[in-house]
Parts: sequence; C-alpha cells; structure tokens
Amino acid sequence: MAIQLPGGLDTPALVVDSDVLDRNISRMAERSRSGGFALRPHAKTHKCIQIADRQLQVGAFGLSVATIGEAEVFARNGVDDLFIAYPLWLDAGKVQRIRRLADEVSLRVGVESIEGAQRLGEALRGSARPVEVLIEIDSGAHRTGVRPHAAALVGKTVADAGLDVVGVFTFPGHGYGHDTQARERAARDEERVLAEAAQELRSLGFNMRVISGGSTPTVGQWRQGAVNELRPGVYVFNDATQLAMGVCSPDDLALAAAATVISTPAADRFVLDVGSKTLGSDRSPWVTGHGYLPGFPQAMVSGLWEHHAVVGLPDGVRGPRLGSVIAVVPNHVCTPVNLADELVVVRGGEVIDHWPVAARGANT
Ligand SMILES: Cc1ncc(COP(=O)(O)O)c(C=O)c1O
Repeated sequence: MAIQLPGGLDTPALVVDSDVLDRNISRMAERSRSGGFALRPHAKTHKCIQIADRQLQVGAFGLSVATIGEAEVFARNGVDDLFIAYPLWLDAGKVQRIRRLADEVSLRVGVESIEGAQRLGEALRGSARPVEVLIEIDSGAHRTGVRPHAAALVGKTVADAGLDVVGVFTFPGHGYGHDTQARERAARDEERVLAEAAQELRSLGFNMRVISGGSTPTVGQWRQGAVNELRPGVYVFNDATQLAMGVCSPDDLALAAAATVISTPAADRFVLDVGSKTLGSDRSPWVTGHGYLPGFPQAMVSGLWEHHAVVGLPDGVRGPRLGSVIAVVPNHVCTPVNLADELVVVRGGEVIDHWPVAARGANT
C-alpha cells in the first residue's frame, strides 16, 4: 500500500512509513542470514540513529559509513563497530579525528592506494586499538578501487605501515542500470574480482576474513561462498530509481516527500512546493522525471526548481486539488535525507515520531 500521509503536515517534509521501513530492514536481515552473509548496512542512506538501532537489533553486525563525520555521529550514539567504506585521504584535521575514533570503537577503514595506506599508518601509529583495513577493488563501476592484481602491493604497504589487512571490498555501482541483467553481471563481477584479489593477498600470507560487497540493486544476486559480507544502503527506504529498475515494488517505498499543490495553472499540469532543495536533483538516464507520485502514477515530474516541482498529466487524467498534500518519492533517497533536519515517522496515516537526521551534513 502506498505511504499514507497524515493531515496537518508542514510541507515540504520527509515522511517515513515505519511499517514499511521495518519490513524492508527485516527482509534484508533475513536474506543475509539465510544466504550466510554478514550484514553491514550502509548508513549514509538514513544517517539516523533510530534506523541504525533497528538494523542492529535485527542482525546487522555493524554499520558501513562514507565519512569520518558519519562515523563520529554513530560512535557518539553507541554504535561500536564501524567500517568507513571509503579510501580516506588524511589531512591534519582528519588525522586527529581518525585517531580519536580508533580509540573509541572497533574501526575498519578502506584503502586503495600506497600513499593512502602510508598516511593511514602514520595517523594511527601507537593508537590504543588495532584498526582493520580492507583493500578496495574496482569491480566495474570504475570509481575508486584497484584492479585485483594490484591489491597485493597495496596490502603489503598497509602491513608495512603497521596496520592489519583483514579483507577486500568493492561497490558494484555498475549494477545500476535499466538492463535487468546488469545486476546479475555486476554481482558476478564483484564475486570474481574479490576472489582474485583475496587470492593475491592470501598468497602473501594475509588472512582474508572479510570479503565485502553488495548494493541494493544486487540484492538477491549474490551466491553463497564468494562474498561473506553485504553493505546495501538504499533498501531501508527504496526510491524511484529502485522502483524503475524493478528492484522494489511500490509497496516497498518507505519514504516520500509530502508536498502541497500550490498551483494548478492548466488541466495538464500542477505545481508542488518541493524542489531540488527537498528532493535533491539526482536523475539517472533510465528514470522518468524527477520523482514518482504514488497517488498519480501516470503523472511525470517534468520540471524541478529549487522550491517548485512542475508535474505533467497525460490527457484525461485529473490532477489533485489546489492545496491538497501528496506524496513524491525521490529519485535517489540518500540526497533528500541529507538535506532534511528530521524524518516524520508515520504509521497508518498518524504521526508517531520525529527522528533527527543525526548525521546530516556530516560529509567530511
Ligand atoms: C562503498 C559503498 N558501499 C555500499 C553502498 C550501498 O549501496 P546502495 O546505495 O546501492 O544500497 C554504497 C553506495 O553508494 C557505497 O558507495
């Protein structure tokens, strides 16, 4: 069932259906458990303590984060096992912060370059608790990460810098695509390159305990045995991109922006009080428009300004009344969450809580 908006909302607001959220969280935990994978969800999607607690309660072993800032927020709020799944480049300010974190929590960090490994080693020299390192491998997204054959040299540098190499990780970002087979291919790519890299590192004597992959689109594509840890993020809420790819159904959409119809200038369009400052402006080539309207699935958000969304209607389809409040599911949910102070939590169309986006803007 589409997210039910409560009355009296001050729009625009990000609304989360707690039943759908809990179902998404439990389903992923169950999938991971039954597949034999450790689940370490990526918390950059929600940046929210209450959601992290739910993930950890139903079986996540720890969280993945993208920045030291996100790690600091979750550490302050009691999460004691964190993986910064990002190849940090440590300048003077970040050195102090990573040292503090390393003293407070069980910390894993991603590394993908010799210089990055050396800087990390220097930063953490003499720290009270050992920090574990995962070497990042490029499985086809061509973002960060080394090719598998280069993992050994980076691993050796990490070890020479006095740090503990415990595994490899990759982000199969090329699994995002209109072609449904892209997901399966990306999952096979990550399994192959992670296995190759792990083998290179094992041959140097490293004990490869963590083989970490995964993203929301590759959910369900993983085979047992190759990867032993998963890091999906978007699955908690899902979004219009996951819907367009067929990764989720409309019933799995847990978050929408509540927006007021502020103008009905013509029969074929209306205007909402949400823009890029609420929805973000991410738009993949295979997504139609700037968001999905569960109440008006034939409509298209054809124009997005900072504070306006213009929605086009096909012939014969009636739009909402001026002043009514409707739901808009963002294209990519991580960006709007990072733009919001809080999430309005609803169940059965009633507001039950307000959750601060605690790590909002913690992007350094
Ligand atoms: C390193 C890393 N791991 C995991 C994820 C989570 O994947 P998704 O957002 O598709 O759920 C991301 C997302 O960008 C990522 O960058």
